This record gives sequence, C-alpha cells and structure tokens, in this order.
Amino acid sequence: MPTVQACLFDLDGVIVDTAKYHYLAWRQLANQLGFDLTLEQNELLKGISRMESLDIILEIGGVKLDEAEKTKLATEKNLRYLELCKQITPDDALPGVRRFLDELRADSIKVGLGSASKNAKTILTNLDMLTYFDTIVDGNRVTKGKPDPQVFLMGAEDLSVAPEYCLVFEDAVAGVQSGNAAGMCTIGIGEQSVLNEADIVIKGFDGVSVDDLFGKLT
Ligand code: G6P
Ligand code: MG
Repeated sequence: MPTVQACLFDLDGVIVDTAKYHYLAWRQLANQLGFDLTLEQNELLKGISRMESLDIILEIGGVKLDEAEKTKLATEKNLRYLELCKQITPDDALPGVRRFLDELRADSIKVGLGSASKNAKTILTNLDMLTYFDTIVDGNRVTKGKPDPQVFLMGAEDLSVAPEYCLVFEDAVAGVQSGNAAGMCTIGIGEQSVLNEADIVIKGFDGVSVDDLFGKLT
C-alpha cells in the first residue's frame, strides 16, 4: 500500500475492552424480557449500533415491541452501560495501545477514531485519551452503521487524507468490512479465523511497533 498518512481506530475492542460491559447491560435487558443472551450471541453485536443491537437481541428472544418501547429499553440499557463504564480508568487502555499511538504521533501520522458508539467521548475521557485523536467520528455523527464505509470515509475527510493512505484498526467483522469498503487497508485485532477479510490480523498492540507493522504492508 502507499505510505500511511492516517490511522483510524475503532474504540470498543481496539482501544479498550468495553464488550464485557455492553454484554452485562444487554444480558440484563434480555433477562428482564425473559430470556438469556450468551457470550456467543454477544459477538454478533460487536461494531453494531445500539438500536440495531437491540433489534438483534429481540429477534434472538422472539420478542416484538413497538418503537416507543424499544427506545425506552435502549435508554435503560445505556444508563446501565454508562454506570459500568464509570469504573474505566487510564489503566484500562488495552496493552500497548497508548505506546502505539505515541509512536504514530512521533512519526507525524494523523490519528482518528471511527466508532459506532454514541459514548465514545465519555469512554475516551475516562481513559484520559481524548487528546490522542485529531478527529472523532462516533455514533452521534454517522447515519449509516458499519459495514457501511461512512464512518471511516468521514474520518479520512476530516483529516484531509485520501482513503488509500488510511489504515483502519478493527476488532469486528462489520468494522473490517467497513474499512475495506472505504478503500482502506485494514488491520484486524483478534483472531485470523474470524477477521479473515482484514489485510493483516494481529492479536493486539502489545509488542507490535509501528515500524514492524507498516513493514508488513505490501
Ligand atoms: C460499538 C460496540 C457495539 C455497540 C456500539 C454502539 O460499535 O462494538 O457493541 O453497540 O458501539 O455503542 P453505544 O455506546 O452507542 O451504545
Ligand atoms: Mg469494536
């Protein structure tokens, strides 16, 4: 790929492990409605917006609700989620992420956030990581969820960098597809077997330097 000028990071599962809090909050909602949500089913929700996640959960439970009830449940889930997120501190950034971002900044590579979450700024504030990002595209700005490329295209535009010079870091299948659809190179964070549509898959940032990773991009 051409020289990397910008890196766009997903938040949940890439910068911090919030999936466990989303799971607890969604599971409580499911239990309230009389069914359970497994960890495996929770995987389906990664990278998916709040309301789309609710629709998937209701389908799992075979529950039909009107829009007003859905909005009420989603709001309740979010309050529970935010309560759980209060325990996030700067120490909760995933291993190596902060150092990796420092290296990017030292190399004058622009850094953006591309997340479906409407809580992205709150989480980044709890992590004390807001200042790492030259732009933040979150669930309050996008109108189309991943795998649509909108979130990453908006990030690239904010940073005035053409898509082919952008690198996307994603832990969700829908997120990798979003980056690919944006015409960007994609780095999967997780398992090769799950994220096989990514150009490169790494387990995380621990022990991964910017130079090493960029050297692997062809
Ligand atoms: C991320 C997570 C999803 C979550 C979505 C919306 O993409 O991976 O699990 O549903 O953000 O998050 P929000 O904080 O707005 O409910
Ligand atoms: Mg994610």
